[in-house]
Amino acid sequence: MAQLWGGRFTKETDKLVYNFNASISFDQKFYEQDIRGSKAHVAMLARQGILTAEEKDQIEAGLDGILADVRSGKLEITSEYEDIHSFVEANLIDRIGDAGKKLHTGRSRNDQVALDMKLYVRDEIDETDELVKKLLEALQKIMEENVHTYMPGFTHLQKAQPVTLAHHVGAYFEMFVRDRSRLADIRKRMNTCPLGAGALAGTTYPLDREYTAQLLGFDGPTRNSMDSVSDRDYVIELLSAFSTIMMHMSRFCEEIIMWNSNEYRFVEIDDAYSTGSSIMPQKKNPDIAELVRGKTGRVYGALTSILTTMKGIPLAYNKDMQEDKELTFDAIDTVKGCLALFTGMISTMQFNKQNMEASAKNGFTNATDAADYLVNHGVPFRDAHGIVGRLVLTCIDKGISLDELPLEEYKAISPVFENDIYEAISMKTCVEKRMTIGAPGPDVMEKVIAENKKYLERKLKKTACNLFWFVIVCTRKTDVRNIRTPG
Ligand code: ARG
Repeated sequence: MAQLWGGRFTKETDKLVYNFNASISFDQKFYEQDIRGSKAHVAMLARQGILTAEEKDQIEAGLDGILADVRSGKLEITSEYEDIHSFVEANLIDRIGDAGKKLHTGRSRNDQVALDMKLYVRDEIDETDELVKKLLEALQKIMEENVHTYMPGFTHLQKAQPVTLAHHVGAYFEMFVRDRSRLADIRKRMNTCPLGAGALAGTTYPLDREYTAQLLGFDGPTRNSMDSVSDRDYVIELLSAFSTIMMHMSRFCEEIIMWNSNEYRFVEIDDAYSTGSSIMPQKKNPDIAELVRGKTGRVYGALTSILTTMKGIPLAYNKDMQEDKELTFDAIDTVKGCLALFTGMISTMQFNKQNMEASAKNGFTNATDAADYLVNHGVPFRDAHGIVGRLVLTCIDKGISLDELPLEEYKAISPVFENDIYEAISMKTCVEKRMTIGAPGPDVMEKVIAENKKYLERKLKKTACNLFWFVIVCTRKTDVRNIRTPG
């Protein structure tokens, strides 16, 4: 039981208390971030003359050694240490001796853990964003291939009007674009560095907080040391954005599960993404879609949990906040796993285009267009609505669709109908005539697809540009005193 704070105590910690209090079993996940933060801290201490250049070099080499050994598996993170911070410090002292004891100068675990968590979340936002982008690329491909694939659009889960598969999938494209922009907003808002806030009230050492912030790729230091160590807003925002991503995937999964059912047969999920039954040989189940839908509840749970944990915590740091980690890590792993699997599932899924089109026809999705035909021939809309309602009743009676109903039957209900009614209510016409912005008509859809393409390319360039900027910031020797405070 290696603890950083034994001096004031006269008794060993009770074993159960130690285990209850320790966080190493989960905070070991951010050992890379912890070491990255320590290296920046040490570079700043040396720059400010608080450590000598020699001590800095020794500590840096020691930290690099620990990082390499943990990565390669040579050094194991064990429960012998209370948390990842203690593990790194103890190992550093073992490796380099007294210089290692200076690492924690002007720092508390409170600002250290606040930093580690921010670095971890920021890294994970970037990885999640990449996964959402891959998903968007998969959606874009489906859209490109299905501008003329007709299917029923639904309201109240009743067939409503014909749309295209490109249009339907395009709705999800919009949702996931918003998800990316939410992630970008969070990243921007959280990008201030808490390091240097100390336990809660800053330190008496002449720390250069702007320099550490810059070294770690932040826009600047946080502005209030008490807030710095007790802010977990960005975790809440992340879990909220994650809940929304999951909700979007879950809605699509629900549709895929229905579309894959024996009744719909709109899609065929690839064998690689389906599972069988141990008793019923005929079964091919959409388990992946069901699991993504199911895991959505788990991510919502994490959001509810952190909100509840935070609501009663007085300023500043309190141990309750250690509870942010397991649920955040679990949510991150869940969302990333679901995004990757969901993308794989939809990229390999087959669409039964004939079934989709037949379903649109059989559900009277062209009834509004039949009414519009009458309106175009001078019949007031309310009357047209009534006439087509009667036509639909006749069709239901005969078990046929509107385009199978003979012209005499049309004429018997309204003499306005002529032979061109069949053309007017064909799926092709119904869709092609919907040409307003946002509608499924192929011309507007092609424009959307072209815009999507540009959007996907644009974001790529922006990432490259950020990377470029990051390298410049990390390598140049600048006067860091001019960094803007966040507005
Ligand atoms: N494991 C702790 C956490 O995750 C680290 C901070 C400990 N600070 C303290 N004052 N005990 O929040």
